[in-house]
Amino acid sequence: MTDIDKSSLSWDEWDELHFPRPAENDFDQVVENAISRRGFISGVLAFGSGAAVMGTGLLSSTSARAQEASRFPFTPIDIQTDGAVHVPEGYNWKVLVGWGDPLFSDADGYDVTQGGGAVEGSDRVFGENTDGMETFTVDGRQLIAINHEYVNPKLNLPAEQEGVAQSAGDVTKLQNLQGVSVIEVAEGPDGWAVVKNSPYNRVIHHRTEMQIAGPAAGHDLLKTDADPTGALALGTMNNCGSGKTPWGTYLTCEENFNGYFGTTEAEEDQKPVQLVDGYARYGIGAEGRYQYEKFDPRFDTSLNPNEPHRFGWVVEIDPSDPESTPVKHTGLGRFKHENAEVVIANDDRVVVYLGDDERGEFIYRFVSNGTYTPGGPTEGLLDDGTLYVAKFNDDMTGEWLPLTPETTGMDAAEILIFARTAGSAVGATTMDRPEWISANPNAVEGYCCLTNNSRRGLRPNAGGDETPVGGPNPREANKYGQIVRWRPHDSDHASDTFDWDLYVMAGNPNVHSDAYAGSPNVTPGNMFNSPDGMAFDNTGLVWIQTDGDDSNEGDFAGMGNNQMLAGDPETGEIARFLTGPTGCEVTGLAWSDDRSTMFVGIQHPGSGWPDGGSPERSAVIAVKRDDGAPLG
Ligand code: FEO
Ligand code: CA
Ligand code: CA
Ligand code: CA
Repeated sequence: MTDIDKSSLSWDEWDELHFPRPAENDFDQVVENAISRRGFISGVLAFGSGAAVMGTGLLSSTSARAQEASRFPFTPIDIQTDGAVHVPEGYNWKVLVGWGDPLFSDADGYDVTQGGGAVEGSDRVFGENTDGMETFTVDGRQLIAINHEYVNPKLNLPAEQEGVAQSAGDVTKLQNLQGVSVIEVAEGPDGWAVVKNSPYNRVIHHRTEMQIAGPAAGHDLLKTDADPTGALALGTMNNCGSGKTPWGTYLTCEENFNGYFGTTEAEEDQKPVQLVDGYARYGIGAEGRYQYEKFDPRFDTSLNPNEPHRFGWVVEIDPSDPESTPVKHTGLGRFKHENAEVVIANDDRVVVYLGDDERGEFIYRFVSNGTYTPGGPTEGLLDDGTLYVAKFNDDMTGEWLPLTPETTGMDAAEILIFARTAGSAVGATTMDRPEWISANPNAVEGYCCLTNNSRRGLRPNAGGDETPVGGPNPREANKYGQIVRWRPHDSDHASDTFDWDLYVMAGNPNVHSDAYAGSPNVTPGNMFNSPDGMAFDNTGLVWIQTDGDDSNEGDFAGMGNNQMLAGDPETGEIARFLTGPTGCEVTGLAWSDDRSTMFVGIQHPGSGWPDGGSPERSAVIAVKRDDGAPLG
C-alpha cells in the first residue's frame, strides 16, 4: 500500500486493496472454468436465439436494424478523450450546480479553491461527488434530491498531508459534504440555477438524525450505547444510486458503508473480523478510508461494534418536508445497495428491485404485503413484506427465492441485517457486480447493469460462494460488463419466475474476435465498458451511463472517456449521446418536470473540469435541446 496514492483510488479499488478475499487456485476449479468457457460460446448463441424467442431479436436484428429508421432523436457522437463534456449537434449543456456551491446565502464565503474553506458553512453547500438523483415537483416548484457518494479528501483537506483528517473538525467537514442534498432549481434566461435559500433546500449528512423502521428495528444488533432503542441512527453514507416512490419520496441507497469504520485498538488486541458478525462478509476492517475512527468514536468499532449494522440500508427522504426525519427501511435488506427501482405489481403490491454492488454478490427483490393506492397510506410498504434473491438458470429461466426463517435457518431480523448470508444460504446466483436496476415503463421487464468482475470464475465471493462462468455472467475475469434483462412470467413483477437474456454484452470488436468483442449490438462506433447508471425515459429508451476504464488503450482502445448512451430495448440498438471529461464517471440522471431538461451527474472529473482551473469539481449539468423540445 505504501507506494499507492490511496486518496486517488476509487471506492472500489480502495475496498479491494483493504479487504482482499482469499485467493483460490484449486485445480478442479480451473478445469470447471475451462468447461464453462466452452459452454459459453454456445451460451451466447442460446442467448441470441432466446432473445429472438422473447421477440427482441437481438442477434437477428443487427443487420436489419441498420436499414431501419432509428428511434433516437439525435445523431450519435464519437468518443472523446478531452476534459470537456460533449453532446450531439442540436443539444447544449451547462453546469447547474457543483461541489461547494452555496445553497444558502450565509455560506457565500465557501471557496472551493481552498478545499471549501472552514468547517463552518460546509453543511450549507452542495456536497461532493454527485451520484443518483431524482426530480420532484412540489407546489409547482422543481426540486432535485441528489446523492453525494463520497469525498476526495485531498480536495477537501488541502492543508493536511495527503488529505488525511488530522482533527475532529476535519472529520466533521468530510461528513458534511457527503450524504444527500435536496435543492430547489428554477430556469431563467441564463438557464437552470439553484434557488438559494429555498425553504426546500436541505443538506443531509453523516450525522443527520434518522429513524430505523421495519422488522430489524430495535434488534439487539442495531443497539448502541448512544441508542439503546436500536431505532434511531445518525447519518446516511456512501449514498450511491437512488429511487423514487409513487408517493413522491426519495430513496437513497447506502453502498460502501464498510469503508467508514475502523478501530483504534492495538493490532494485537483486535478481534479477528471473522469472529464479529458480518464483518468479514461486509468488508469491515481495521482502518477506515477517512480515519473517522480516530476522531469520532462512533466509527471506532472497538467501542461501537454495532454501529456498522446501522448502515447499508435504503433510506427514504420526503423532499417536500425539510423538517421530516429520513427513514431507514430494514425490510429492504442490508448490503452494498446500488439503487432501488420501485414498481407496482398487478395486484398493487409494491415491488422493489435492488442490486448489491460487489463482486459475486446478488440481485434482490422486495414484495410488500400491503398494496399501494394513490393518495392512500404508505406505512409499511417498504418494510412489511418478503425479501427475495435472484437465481438465474443457464436455460434462461430464473426464480426469486424467498429469504425466510424456513429457507435460511436465520431469524427474521438477521435475514435482513445479514441479507448476504441469507442469500448464500438459499443458493442465489453470484453476479458480476450488480449496479443500477431499471424497469421498462412500456413492458414488464427489469434491467440490471452488471458492471464488471475481475474475479468471475477465479475466486469466490466474500461468503465463499463459487462464481462459476455461466448464465448471465458468461465471461471469466469480466472486464467489460453486461446488462441482464428479465421478463417476469404472467407479466407481473410479483411473479416468482422469469425468463432472462442479456440486453448487451459490452466488449471491444476492434481488439477481440471472441466473446470479448461483445454482443452484436456493440460496434466500433458505440463501444463502451462498465455500464453502471441506467434509467428509462418516458418514450421507452433506456439510458446507460458508464463508470469504466477511460485509458483508451489496450482492451479499452477506442472507447474514450466515460459516457452516456441511449438504448432501444426493442431493437437492441445503442447510440452514444454524451461523453464526460477525462477521469470522470457519468452517473445520476433525472428529467425536469416538463421533460425539456436532462440533469446528468459528472462524478470525480479530472483535468480541472469544468473551467480548466483547479481543483476539479464534480457537478450536475443540465442538458437541453437547442429548440427546447422535450428529450425523453
Ligand atoms: Fe456507487 Fe456501485 O456504484
Ligand atoms: Ca454506480
Ligand atoms: Ca461503478
Ligand atoms: Ca462510482
